[in-house]
Amino acid sequence: ADTLGAAAAESGRYFGTAVGPHLLGEADYAATLNREFTSVVAENDMKWDATEPSPGQFNFSRGDQLVDHARSQGMEVRGHTLVWHAQQPSWVQGLTGDALRQAMLGHIDGVAGHYAGDISSWDVVNEAFEWDGSRRQSNLQQQLGDGWIEEAFRAADAADPNATLCYNDYGTDAVNAKSDAIYRMVEDFLARGVPIDCVGFQSHLDSTSDLSTYRQNLQRFSDLGVDVEITELDIGGSGAAQADAYRQVTEACLAVSRCTGITIWGFTDKYSWRDDVTPLLFDATYQKKEAYHAVLAAL
Ligand code: XIL
Repeated sequence: ADTLGAAAAESGRYFGTAVGPHLLGEADYAATLNREFTSVVAENDMKWDATEPSPGQFNFSRGDQLVDHARSQGMEVRGHTLVWHAQQPSWVQGLTGDALRQAMLGHIDGVAGHYAGDISSWDVVNEAFEWDGSRRQSNLQQQLGDGWIEEAFRAADAADPNATLCYNDYGTDAVNAKSDAIYRMVEDFLARGVPIDCVGFQSHLDSTSDLSTYRQNLQRFSDLGVDVEITELDIGGSGAAQADAYRQVTEACLAVSRCTGITIWGFTDKYSWRDDVTPLLFDATYQKKEAYHAVLAAL
């Protein structure tokens, strides 16, 4: 195969990218996207601030634009993200107690309900843990207590029973205190019948990142009985070192049966949230980098 998507499909996996729907009018951007990828996720346009700027008033225009584009190209769509401490609209930030609970549940119902049938997997909850494995002290955690994560998953399951429901986080790319805590949460959810299907590993990395337990970590979640997805991969660096790190991550996913696909967090260094470290597979003029060839060969 000579594209990322076609190569990943040979083992039944998708290869996706984050997209800014406002960039689809740029010819090189759209051509590269359409040629290489079999899955997309909105980089920002399905987040709470974008989709519910005022209480109960939903705006799906950019998200719908992405879904329409994906449908026309036969691509899957990942959903990112229903509940997160960041990029909340300002009206949410001051809510307390049951008002915040109702806002969260109404948001999940509104967004996951609107996109039901269109989304392959949802990042239901994003970044709820700290490095030491404790819960992040977000407004959700402080106002709603430990139960808020399972409440979110139950609401997402009710709104879209067919989507794969994921918990998504960063810094979980090794066997460490943070991934241990998420492992225990998933184990508990499965034991109690809380609807979780998947763990997403953001994998915002650098070419110096320690990847020695990356595959082992994916494998233990897979063995627990959930899918694993690499959801926001980007690797700062250049040349052979960057390419080698991309190769290792790709090989790890391919080695784990329940690793269902890889999404990179943008594809051209022209548009990256980390553009200072050129972390993507195409350069700013849409030329394939060494890292691209390493991924393609590993798929
Ligand atoms: C980032 C986007 O890439 C930026 O454009 C935006 O300004 C901030 O958010 N973890 C996540 C993503 O789950 O939603 C973040 O995306 C990157 C870190």
